[in-house]
Amino acid sequence: MQLRSVQDLLVSQPLNEDVELKGWVRTFRAKRFIALNDGSTIKSIQCVVDFENTDESLLKRITTGAAVHVKGPLVESQGGGQAVEVQVESIEILGDSDPETYPIQPKKHSLEFLRENAHLRTRTNTFGAVMRVRSSLAFAIHDYFNKNGYYYMHTPIITGSDAEGAGEMFRVSTLDPKDPPLNDQGEVDYNEDFFGKESNLTVSGQLEAETYAMSLGKVYTFGPTFRAENSNTSRHLAEFWMIEPEVAFMDLAGNMDLAEDFLKYVVQYILKHNADDLAFLEQRLIQEDKSKPQIERSPMTLTDKLRFVIDNQFVRVTYTEAIDILRNSKPNKKKKFTYLIDEWGADLQSEHERYLVEKHFKRPVILFDYPANIKAFYMRLNEDGNTVRAMDILFPGIGEIVGGSQREERLEVLKEKMAALDIPEEELWWYLDLRRFGTAIHSGFGLGFERLVMFVTGMGNIRDVIPYPRTPLNAEF
Ligand code: 4AD
Ligand code: MG
Repeated sequence: MQLRSVQDLLVSQPLNEDVELKGWVRTFRAKRFIALNDGSTIKSIQCVVDFENTDESLLKRITTGAAVHVKGPLVESQGGGQAVEVQVESIEILGDSDPETYPIQPKKHSLEFLRENAHLRTRTNTFGAVMRVRSSLAFAIHDYFNKNGYYYMHTPIITGSDAEGAGEMFRVSTLDPKDPPLNDQGEVDYNEDFFGKESNLTVSGQLEAETYAMSLGKVYTFGPTFRAENSNTSRHLAEFWMIEPEVAFMDLAGNMDLAEDFLKYVVQYILKHNADDLAFLEQRLIQEDKSKPQIERSPMTLTDKLRFVIDNQFVRVTYTEAIDILRNSKPNKKKKFTYLIDEWGADLQSEHERYLVEKHFKRPVILFDYPANIKAFYMRLNEDGNTVRAMDILFPGIGEIVGGSQREERLEVLKEKMAALDIPEEELWWYLDLRRFGTAIHSGFGLGFERLVMFVTGMGNIRDVIPYPRTPLNAEF
């Protein structure tokens, strides 16, 4: 007999045919009703044990968390709540659990507790749902780019360059930290290191993606990126996944169109394919909201919020317009912002981004044309000489979800910019070559995958949307 998944059984007709399934016991009630889950769906299937004809010693081993193998006919369910159930004719305990010490008891656990038990937390409904949605989103992303003629490119994880110029990198080295070789100046001599130069984990695949865009036309990367920024917030990870499309001959307006179309596609995909998981996550949020004061409650349900993003055009505003709005805003005038907006040129904090999205525009916002000196070196300088063709996409509840730009395609302008920021030309000679041989305008962006998963699942902490979060002072598992 072939093993069947719970997902498949739950939509099958109860024809009294024998079926076989394996999974983990969620609960065992009245020595009779097993709720069995195998991860294929958020739902568990009811398996009814004939306790009068089952050994007491076997019944005792059917406990929450145990792995079991069940055989018996699939029948119409006698009780309410489910259409079908399995009448257990034989049950084999594949792996016992210990009801005393098993951390995932059938009750509500805090997210903090589950983070400490991240190796078992996907046995809860919440984390099962989040991780199935995460998996679907990854597929939807590849699907979008594949359908639209993009090549999937694997950019290197170890690199010698700092794409964002922020110096927030993890060093990759095989030197002995207790006794490193020193040069004549008494500094660590990285010429002696594994790669013969300083190297680090990548903060972004963009620079290498640009090289492929300038030959293959339309490419994207989707891989892990690393940032050694010491920000312990609910939106930052030291290791996160980023999706970075890069397109030749595309300007900033095209970049915005692409990002908007792409985001709408992947959100739509989840509404279509993960309805059960979303329904659960939506209820979870409704329950969570009940314990909050009225003003903090969300006016929209999760699916309303997702539909809202799909149905509405993102607002496009320049940085300069945004500064005017913020300067004249209530929280600025009443000094409610932690960082008050006073002059053009200020970097926007997440409190400002969220004000624009959640209070002022009440829909996703694309901010563009930022001051050159608060953005990375590679962004295309505008004719005004002060601003660059940068764009950030801000989402409700999240803040910045996408950062991108049109790239500086003019060799001399790029060289000047690098010189001003002390970025050595020798380090990026290959990047400059793109501007020497057949340069053309091109653009791209980076979408933080975990921020997208947060938005789609409604989870409030980024640590709960990646299997094993890496954050300052934490690399458990
Ligand atoms: O805005 P960022 O730094 O842009 C880049 O790295 C560009 N090279 C992308 C490009 O144009 N190809 O990062 C892009 C996105 C952010 O908008 C945010 O969603 C996410 O990556 N991100 C993080 N997500 C989790 N933890 C962190 N520490 C993050 N830093 C950035
Ligand atoms: Mg950014």
